[in-house]
Amino acid sequence: MNHYLQSPYYSELGRLSFSPGWARPEPSMWPEPQPKFRPAVWRFAAAKRALDASQSMVPAEQTERRNLIMVNPIEGNTYATTRHLVAAYQCVMPGESARSHRHSATALRLVLSAKSGTYTVVNGSRIDMSPGDVVLTPAWSWHGHANESDTTSYWIDFLDIPFVQLTEAMFFEAHPIGGVEPIKFTGSSPMRIPCGEALGPGRDAKIVEIAKDVMPTIGLHLIRQPEGGSLKAPRSTINSIYAVVSGKVRFIVEDSFDETLDPGDVIAVPCWHSRKIEARSDAVLFRVSDEPLLRKLGLKRSAGQ
Ligand SMILES: [Fe+2]
Repeated sequence: MNHYLQSPYYSELGRLSFSPGWARPEPSMWPEPQPKFRPAVWRFAAAKRALDASQSMVPAEQTERRNLIMVNPIEGNTYATTRHLVAAYQCVMPGESARSHRHSATALRLVLSAKSGTYTVVNGSRIDMSPGDVVLTPAWSWHGHANESDTTSYWIDFLDIPFVQLTEAMFFEAHPIGGVEPIKFTGSSPMRIPCGEALGPGRDAKIVEIAKDVMPTIGLHLIRQPEGGSLKAPRSTINSIYAVVSGKVRFIVEDSFDETLDPGDVIAVPCWHSRKIEARSDAVLFRVSDEPLLRKLGLKRSAGQ
């Protein structure tokens, strides 16, 4: 600290909760984005081992959800995967359930592994979960999960909790029933989107937006690439999380971060990071981003614009 800042004048400003704009220790604006979040990868195989181990260590009653949060490895962060979103691997053991609740944060999940008998109840509708399904729970929807199969089910949760925390508009309520909400409806639901159906047949390169305008803060895209195909994305203000639905995919982020991902693996690509995505085999990717949020706020922008 500069010596003059220790004068009684500046001490008095501090006591009055003022900070002199002409003597700030760090700038509050900069010429272009300086993301604090980093590119990072999480592996499904490692998560599965750890979740399986939790089954003998942590009784279900002690967990609102049996999940492992993908914490971006930057200093001071204990929760978020990217600036506005959090992702987590979750499992539900055979016979186990995750009690119904609702929150002002928006949530969705990509099913990795589940046998018939695994379902989510959204506002009383039973939604059966199969691998490759995306299941939506828009803000303030009641939702709980159950697994009546003989095998543990795994999926990836995505939520906008870091953004809602930032706004401080957080509400959470446990369902009064205490367990999973009773089922009132069965059959097809717009809250279940199977990736294969959304992409259609074939193996050609394709990007499809799903659940468009359903959730105001989160954008969902399915990306299909045949073996040997690749795509590039320039730096932009959008923060993305990608999960591999099928195939093997290499990510090169800003020419330095280079990782190859298998099904179920996840990569965070924070804002202002360019990327090249190469399909090492026929591949489908699921991209979860804050694009709708930034677009609505007039903050969506790419390098060179
Ligand atoms: Fe939830």
